[in-house]
Amino acid sequence: MSRLRSAMNKVKGARVEMAETGKSNRKRSRTAVKEEKTPSAASPSTYHTFPDRADVVLLRSQLLNWYDKEKRELPWRTVAETEPDLNIRTYAVWVSEIMLQQTQVATVKGYYNKWMKRWPTVQDLAAATLEEVNQMWAGLGYYSRGKRLQEGAQKVVTELKGQMPRTVDSLLKQLPGVGRYTAAAIGSIALGQVTGAVDGNVIRVLCRLRAIGADSTSPAVSEALWDLANTLVDPGRPGDFNQAMMELGARVCTPKGPLCSHCPVQTHCHSYQKVHIKLEQNFTKLLGKLSRKPSALPDIEDCISTGACLLCPSEPWDDELGVQNFPRKPAKKPPRVERTLTCLVVRPGKEGEKEYLLTQRPNKGLLAGLWEFPSLQLEGENTEVKQRRALCTQLSRMLGGLLNESLFHYMGEVVHIFSHIHQTYVVYSVCLNDSDAQTQPENQQWLTRSALQKAAVSTGLKKILKLYDSVDREEKQTSKGEKEKTTGVKNDSKPLNLKRPKLSPANSSRQLSLSSFFKTVKEDPS
Ligand code: ADE
Repeated sequence: MSRLRSAMNKVKGARVEMAETGKSNRKRSRTAVKEEKTPSAASPSTYHTFPDRADVVLLRSQLLNWYDKEKRELPWRTVAETEPDLNIRTYAVWVSEIMLQQTQVATVKGYYNKWMKRWPTVQDLAAATLEEVNQMWAGLGYYSRGKRLQEGAQKVVTELKGQMPRTVDSLLKQLPGVGRYTAAAIGSIALGQVTGAVDGNVIRVLCRLRAIGADSTSPAVSEALWDLANTLVDPGRPGDFNQAMMELGARVCTPKGPLCSHCPVQTHCHSYQKVHIKLEQNFTKLLGKLSRKPSALPDIEDCISTGACLLCPSEPWDDELGVQNFPRKPAKKPPRVERTLTCLVVRPGKEGEKEYLLTQRPNKGLLAGLWEFPSLQLEGENTEVKQRRALCTQLSRMLGGLLNESLFHYMGEVVHIFSHIHQTYVVYSVCLNDSDAQTQPENQQWLTRSALQKAAVSTGLKKILKLYDSVDREEKQTSKGEKEKTTGVKNDSKPLNLKRPKLSPANSSRQLSLSSFFKTVKEDPS
């Protein structure tokens, strides 16, 4: 047996003395015994579980000790720890979990603080309009999340007498947008319910701990991970335990470059053990070759399932990846490619400030209810002439007056990546006189720049605005430069690249560089 293996077994032996009582745990150990007898999809090999209760107890205390020292102070954690009112506490954790669903902690913090200041209770949120909610959510992406929070708040107030649900099951059943993970997270963090919670970070931690390398989105793996999380969760501190698992996944057991040497639960990690056993094997092989003696390979503890294990990797181990061999996901479908024609319609406002025309998107689907510049989806290849004509027709209709195609200026392209769409906005602008705009239906509004910055608009729109500003600045510089030339005034400023992007393929490199100037972000698929 290898030195590494015998050291590991010593640690295991020391753990057996630790004991713990508790109803839910006794239930779990009975399940574990059953699992050991018949390794199958429903009860996997003990290699992928925690059959030894002493291991579970040790892991809990190692993880929680680490969390107590290393955890980040986050506003929703403070509320969960200090707010005595159960209703407010559950509402506050619900808001945080919805915001954190597809967004990084660092981005959520600011939005969360602003949200809780404006709507500190579920009643306050129920009284808000969707427009206000969308405005507050602007820039956070996946906009249907805000809408569902507001719908949920209205349901709590009108149907549940203002009382937030008190169990994982009722959270799941009563609140729109709350799925298995979110209900478990709110239930454990705000209500102390003893349940595991499996999100993306936890999937990674568990897959590495128990060398689960089959497709992590498959039902068999998903069920195995929930079983593991429910086995491991600390019944005395379920919310902290779940957050500690998330924290470990976010800061130590990261997708790339994991910090195994800082991991508080390293001794339980089958992936880590596998990496070291492989290293030792390779080293021994090399030594064997050099000394021409047969190498003493260590025995590898592995999954003992007979036949195909539904949790083991289907692909071979890759030495270069190390613990990153786990987890495995199926290859992502490539995003749908879309091109959208969009136009900034600008007019002089009352106080001389420019105003921009915005139209509201439908209440369902992508970017539901948000305000955008008038847009048209492009089908196939289009010449600039056709694009101008299409915009001119649409805007003449919208504004109830005839516009001239020659008024439309091509500005360039902006790329914006949603989770499932690669969107390219082909941007034009048109400047109107006051008199050009006549009627204003409900789904249209003219906004000044400052009003626009505060409105319920997407990150894509803000990027389009940036393009408009940069072209506008360049044009101003050009005309200033030309004036100075004709008046003999010296121009000390740096020379500018004043060429406008063209639509022809010959100029596509210029278009690309302009597009890439605008950083892309992931956004809402719904
Ligand atoms: N991600 C989801 N929930 C979280 C939480 N409570 N803390 C940190 N990250 C999270």
